Amino acid sequence: MKPAPQAPQPPEAGRRRARVFFALWPDAGTRGRLAQAAQRLQATCGGRILKPDNIHLTLVFLGDVDRTRLDALRAAAAGATAPRHTLLLDRFGWFRRNRVAWAGPAQMPPALPQLVHRLEQVLRQECFSFDARAFEAHITLARRADCKEVPTLPEPIPWPVSEFVLVESELGERGSTYTIIGRWPLS
Ligand code: 2AM
Repeated sequence: MKPAPQAPQPPEAGRRRARVFFALWPDAGTRGRLAQAAQRLQATCGGRILKPDNIHLTLVFLGDVDRTRLDALRAAAAGATAPRHTLLLDRFGWFRRNRVAWAGPAQMPPALPQLVHRLEQVLRQECFSFDARAFEAHITLARRADCKEVPTLPEPIPWPVSEFVLVESELGERGSTYTIIGRWPLS
């Protein structure tokens, strides 16, 4: 007898734990501009550029969370907010420690650390653990990059930030696949 056809499984099904993080995900226009900037950065620093669809800014990285706790995680996130704002990405940077080349803001809009702080508060209240390294706003554009000199970003990229998302990351043979599993509007 033929086995019954399997219904497509949502990304959350199957494994007991999910690797998750909160992030800002760019709209199509911002993503396109960041993808162009990535090519510019790669021309100087080499490395492997991110697929445009994977470009994001991590707010809080949790790592593995039991799937039975994902609803509690979403409920906690609903308690975090900050004002909408425009994030002006106007510089490239490079972390020597992990060979990541990135774009970021020279001036941090106060709403961004406010959002991170608020998220961390609600996560602590609900006993979720997360990577508590100091927040460094950066958008990874290339990995395994080596910048002898960090180029200047030719034109600032204004990113209108109106929501944050919860993302599941699956590590595969061809790199990470990211799936948005929750979204919350900013105020
Ligand atoms: P990176 O781009 O600077 O490597 C998914 O792994 C996302 O979470 C990436 O944007 C990654 O940042 C970020 N991240 C932050 N802390 C992390 C950690 N401890 N382990 C893995 N990824 C982390």
